[in-house]
Amino acid sequence: MMSKIKGVVLAGGLGTRLRPLTSITNKHLLPVYNKPMIYYPLEMLVEAGITDIMIVTGGTSAGDFLRLIGNGEEFGLSRINYAYQKREGGIAEALGLAREFVDDDRVVVILGDNILQNGIKKGVEAFLKQQGGGRIFLKRVDNPQEYGIAEVEGDKIKRIVEKPRNPPSDLAVIGIYMYPPDVFEVIGTLEPSARGELEITDVNNAYIQRGAMEYEIIDGWWLDVGESHEALLRANLTVARQEGVEV
Ligand code: G1P
Repeated sequence: MMSKIKGVVLAGGLGTRLRPLTSITNKHLLPVYNKPMIYYPLEMLVEAGITDIMIVTGGTSAGDFLRLIGNGEEFGLSRINYAYQKREGGIAEALGLAREFVDDDRVVVILGDNILQNGIKKGVEAFLKQQGGGRIFLKRVDNPQEYGIAEVEGDKIKRIVEKPRNPPSDLAVIGIYMYPPDVFEVIGTLEPSARGELEITDVNNAYIQRGAMEYEIIDGWWLDVGESHEALLRANLTVARQEGVEV
C-alpha cells in the first residue's frame, strides 16, 4: 500500500520584496500568466497524487484564498484545509501550524511562490521509496547569496548555509521540502534566527546532522517567483512561453 502523504502550501508572509504590488494583497494571489500564483503549487501537488492539502496563509487578505480556492473543486479536490499564521514567524513556524493536519503521515511542503517546469511527481516517488529521513531539491543559480545554499560531497550533503555572503557552492535549496512526521519535533527544538524567524534551513540542517537527508538536483527550470519584480516578470514570460504563447 502507498504510504500516506500530505501536502502543505505555505502562502503567508508580507511579500515586501514585491511592494507595492503586495501592499493590498497577498503575493501568492498575484498573476503568473493566466492564473494566480498559488494555483501552480496546488497543481504540482495534485499532479503528484497528493490530494490531502493544507494552505497556510496570514495577513489581511487570508479570506481571499477561501473565496478563490474554496474546496479545491477546480483542482479536482473536494476539500482543502486552511491554517492562519498570525505573525511573520518564518517558514518553519508556518509549517508547525500544520502539525495536527499532518499527524503521523509524511509531508511535502511547497513554498507558494515556487514553480517547477517538470513538477514534483518524480521527486515524490523517490521520497516514498526512501527508508526514512527528508528530501530536498537543489538547482544551480547565478545569485547564491539570495538562497539557502548546499555544500555537497558526492551523494551526501554536508550543510546548508542560509543566504551566505561567501557561498560554498552555487547549489540553491529550492522551496520544496519532504519530511517524515517527526519534523514537528525538530521544529519544536528550533530557536529564532537573527531575523527573528524559525528557519527551514535549521530544520534541514538537523536532518543533515543525523545523516537523514537525501537530495537531488532537479531538471528543467525553477522559478522563485516572489524574489523580485524581475523574477515575477520572468515567471510570467516563462510560463506563457511554456503554454506556447509568443511573448
Ligand atoms: C527561502 C529559504 C531559502 C530557500 C528559498 C527558496 O528563502 O529560506 O533557504 O533557498 O526560500 O525559494 P526566502 O525566499 O523566504 O527568503
